[in-house]
Amino acid sequence: MLHRLHRISALLISLYILGHLTNHLIALEGVQAHIAFMKSYRQIYRAALVEPLLLGCALFQVGSGITFIARRWGQRHGFFDRAQAISGGYLAFFLLFHVGAVLYGRTVPGLDTNFYFAAAGLHLGKFPLFFAPYYALAVTAYFTHVACGLRWLLRERLPPPLRDRAALGVMSLGLLLGVTIVATFSGAFYPVRIPAAYCFSGC
Ligand code: HEM
Repeated sequence: MLHRLHRISALLISLYILGHLTNHLIALEGVQAHIAFMKSYRQIYRAALVEPLLLGCALFQVGSGITFIARRWGQRHGFFDRAQAISGGYLAFFLLFHVGAVLYGRTVPGLDTNFYFAAAGLHLGKFPLFFAPYYALAVTAYFTHVACGLRWLLRERLPPPLRDRAALGVMSLGLLLGVTIVATFSGAFYPVRIPAAYCFSGC
């Protein structure tokens, strides 16, 4: 039962994440394009009924995921089985900190948690040493977790070599997207100037 709920909740969160990552890739066109897309997308995911559902699913995903890791602790064998647990563990850590930071940023300093809120950590002082791998690994972990889950679900429909290759392909795509998003927010494709309001420790 818990596995089934974990999958349903994953599906709901994934609907949001696909739009969320598309939003970040749109930053390749420029900061204003990212902000404009986020403004319209917020009409959906910040709607009165949608946002509590999304945040509730994220919390449930963290709790149920940690339960699965604890239940099979020390019993996982093989690359994909271990990759599923490691990526799930990282996603649990990331979701708690990421969503916590966004909610804090919105409510306490009252910031618009837009492009600059995420980019600030990739520009200020030594913060990029933490935030660059933090974001790139999050996207990689998401794709890895989905790939390992689908590989298992399709175990009776596809021959093992094809399943493994498809899963590795999805994981590599995640790494590529993660690195691209971090490079864009870091200013690799155009200069990014962080507004003073987002400079927690000085720009
Ligand atoms: C490169 C990676 C990422 C960046 C730069 C990023 C940035 C952001 C930003 C700026 C917000 C605030 C949105 C708003 O104010 O409307 C946000 C919200 C959020 N992000 Fe991410 N994100 C990244 C990856 C992810 C991933 C991989 C996940 C899920 C595994 C995720 C889950 C969420 C959730 C659940 C919210 C809260 C949505 C809400 O406001 O209700 N993010 N993210």
